[in-house]
Amino acid sequence: MTIEPILKEVPFFSRLSDDVLKKLAGMGQTITMKENQVVYQEGDESESMFVILNGRVKIYKVDEQGYDLELTQMDAGDFFGELALLDSRPRSATVVCLTPCEFFIINQIAFMGLLLGSRAKLVYGVFADLTGKIRDTTEAYFKEELAKQMLQAEMKIERHRSLAQMVAGVAHELNTPLGIVNTAVDMIAKRVQSDALAAPLSGDKAAQAILADMQEAAHLASRNISRAHNLVQNFKKISVNQLTAVKETVDLTVLVQDILELFKINARQANLTIEVIDHLPEGNKVWIGYPGYLTQVLTNLLFNIEKYAYPDGNGGIIEIELSMAPERDPAHFMLTVQDYGRGIAPENLSQIFTPFFTTGRRQGGTGLGLAIVHNIVTDALKGKITVESDLNVGTTFTVIFPQIVAHDKESGR
Ligand SMILES: Nc1ncnc2c1ncn2[C@@H]1O[C@H](COP(=O)(O)OP(=O)(O)O)[C@@H](O)[C@H]1O
Ligand SMILES: [Mg+2]
Repeated sequence: MTIEPILKEVPFFSRLSDDVLKKLAGMGQTITMKENQVVYQEGDESESMFVILNGRVKIYKVDEQGYDLELTQMDAGDFFGELALLDSRPRSATVVCLTPCEFFIINQIAFMGLLLGSRAKLVYGVFADLTGKIRDTTEAYFKEELAKQMLQAEMKIERHRSLAQMVAGVAHELNTPLGIVNTAVDMIAKRVQSDALAAPLSGDKAAQAILADMQEAAHLASRNISRAHNLVQNFKKISVNQLTAVKETVDLTVLVQDILELFKINARQANLTIEVIDHLPEGNKVWIGYPGYLTQVLTNLLFNIEKYAYPDGNGGIIEIELSMAPERDPAHFMLTVQDYGRGIAPENLSQIFTPFFTTGRRQGGTGLGLAIVHNIVTDALKGKITVESDLNVGTTFTVIFPQIVAHDKESGR
C-alpha cells in the first residue's frame, strides 16, 4: 500500500507539498500488532499517528460505570491518532486491534523536525493554532457519541424494566399456589408409599396395580411441580430481550387480550377497569409484526396511566380501542389507549416523548418510558404515535401502525 495518498487525506497534511509528503512517508515505520493488543489507551500521552495498512481496530471509551462504549471501527487505509503530531495532550479514546494489524506510524518528533527544517515552518504556526480547535471538535464529537450510546444503553434497561416488573408480578402470584400444590403433592407421594396402605392390599393384585400407578403419578407430579417452581424462580432472571424482537403473525385482538392478562395483577391492585372496544372487522385481525414490542408499548402506556392519570390509587377507567386506521393504503391498524384521569399540562405535552422528561422523578420516574414507546413505534413497528390530553379530562394515545410491518434491513429486525 502506498502511504502518500492516505496521508493526503489527513486534514492538516492536505496542504503539504508532494515533496514534503514524500519525506513524511519516508520517515515512518511499519509495526505489527496481535489481535486484542491495545494500540494505546485513553489518557496515554500521545506521540504518534497511525495509518492502518492491514487489519481492523476498534476505538472506544470507557464510561463511568466501566462499560466499553464503541465509537467506531477502522480498517486498512484509515488513520487515527493524527492529532498527536501537533500536540501532546492525552489520547481521547482507546484503540485495540480486532484482528492482527499492521500499522504505519509517524512519530511526532520526526514530524516536527520535518516541519521546522523546511519551508513548512510558517505553516506550523497555523497548525498549532488549529490543533486546539480540531481537538475540541473531536472531543465534542466523542462526547456527543458517548451521550448517544449511554442513552441507548439506558433505554434498553428501561425497556426491560416494565416487562420485568410484570413478569415478576406474575411469578410472584404463581409462587403461592405452586408452593401449596407442591406440599400437597409431596404429601400424596409419601402417603401412597406408606405400609399402612400397601399391607392390606398385599393380597389384591388389581388394587396393587392401581396403587403402583398412583405412586408413579405422584412421583411424576412432584417432579414437574418442582420444575415449574424452578421455572418461575428463573423466569425473573431471564433476559426478555430475546423475546421481543421476533416477528410473528398474530391475531391482534388476541394479542391485546394477552397483554392485558399480564397487566391484570397491576390493574387489580390499582383498581383499574380496562375496557377493550374491538372494531376490527372479522377476518382482518391478522398482524404481521412484533408482539414483544407491542407488549412494551402497551404496558408502558398502562403503567403511566396507573402512575400519572390515577395517582391516588382509587383507580379509574381505561379504554383500549382497536380499529383500522382510516384512509390508509397499505392497511394500518389504529390502537387508542384512553384514560379519564389527571391529564397532561399543555406545557408538558410537547415534551413527554423526550428522553428524561418526567414529572415523576421523585417517585422514581426516569422519563424514558415514552421515549422508548416512541422509538419502538416509529423504528420497529414503522408506525406513528400521537397524544391528546386535557388537564383533569384525560389523555388519549393513538398508535397507528401497518398491518404488515416491513422488514428492516439495517437493524436486522
Ligand atoms: N396517562 C398519562 N396521564 C398523565 N400524564 C402522563 C400520562 N402518561 C405520561 N404522562 C406524563 O408523561 C411523562 C413522561 O412519561 P414517561 O416517559 O413514561 O416517563 P416516567 O414514567 O418515567 O415519568 C410522565 O412523567 C407524566 O408526566
Ligand atoms: Mg413511564
